[in-house]
Amino acid sequence: MRKVYLDYAATTPVDSRVIKAMKPYFDEKFGNSMSLHSLGIEAKKALENSRKTVAKFIKAKPEEIIFTGSATESINSVLKGVAFANKKRGKHIITSSIEHHAVLETCKWLEKQGFEITYLPVDKDGFINLIQLENSIRKDTILVSIMHANNEIGTIETLKDIGTVCSNHDAYFHTDGVQTFGKIPIDVKKMNIDLLSVSAHKFYGPKGVGATFIRKGVKIEPLLHGGGHEFGLRSSTSNVAGIVGMAKAVELRKKEMTSESKRLRKLRDSLIKGVLKIENSHLNGHPKTRLPNNANFWFNFIEGESLVVELSSHGIYGSTGSACSSDTLEPSHVLLAIGLKHEEAHGSLRLSLGKYTNKADINYVLGVLPNIVKRLRKISPFKGRWK
Ligand SMILES: Cc1ncc(COP(=O)(O)O)c(C=O)c1O
Repeated sequence: MRKVYLDYAATTPVDSRVIKAMKPYFDEKFGNSMSLHSLGIEAKKALENSRKTVAKFIKAKPEEIIFTGSATESINSVLKGVAFANKKRGKHIITSSIEHHAVLETCKWLEKQGFEITYLPVDKDGFINLIQLENSIRKDTILVSIMHANNEIGTIETLKDIGTVCSNHDAYFHTDGVQTFGKIPIDVKKMNIDLLSVSAHKFYGPKGVGATFIRKGVKIEPLLHGGGHEFGLRSSTSNVAGIVGMAKAVELRKKEMTSESKRLRKLRDSLIKGVLKIENSHLNGHPKTRLPNNANFWFNFIEGESLVVELSSHGIYGSTGSACSSDTLEPSHVLLAIGLKHEEAHGSLRLSLGKYTNKADINYVLGVLPNIVKRLRKISPFKGRWK
């Protein structure tokens, strides 16, 4: 059976060139980057070269990059670290209602610690309203955290404008760049970004490696205390092999991103066009201002979960929402926020493309999906309402 992986937004396979670059740091160059002997110096060199590569990619300075264990860790460190370091200035934080759970759950925890959070609503495509953002900023607002692109519906926010509003009002601006880093350009200077969180496993690097960009001068408390690694902001023996892998993945993205994104946009649009030919199917997210690799639909009278299982039995791997929350039966908070009803949000399917996706894969999906939808609608409990 043909295998078509369309869940690249959940995670990506590690590029073989990344594995090759990482390999020596597991055995022959295994040194601790804090050791003073030559093995340690070698590891330290690899670590600092990797930092330079990541920094350059987003127009940051090397000392503004902190390596972490994941984007979830980066996000927790940023939100909690900025909140606690700046609480004398204010205890108000602004975010959006469609953020990843890493942001939302951290905000909920901060509420318990006495911080006040404003959750901005979004429109039907998933955009926040800039005027509403500006009106929500107060004297005691210390941080605004708005994601660059949504992991479920793919909508890309107008980051530069958001950054300008924040800098005009002296509030730090953090963005969750997990889904955009390596897919579309990020320039932390031009976009007025103060803090950014990213994750290697979303762009053909290894799992368990993340990075945080922290603009020089931002007041932040560390989450992990210990040996003082990463400029005292993230103690823990550095995962040199993983970090080297992340840097190699960045290097490859730098070379391949533009042409790859162009190719993916074409494939994505043909997938969307084909799927929308199915009666009573709808696209979630903005039709154009969306991630090059993201397609997200909802189908009347269908459970997204059964769709994913059926597709999987045909070798097609998609998802109902974000992989991280797919074990809950709650409908996606993102789809509810863009105005879908519960039963509509339950009928969603996210197909996210990547570098191994080709035209034949899309044709295969377009051949299989309409029949699955038809069959599931026949057995749907809503079928009485289905003509
Ligand atoms: C938008 C977004 N933010 C944060 C995360 C968490 O990333 P990590 O798996 O590195 O913790 C994800 C992963 O799905 C994501 O898509």
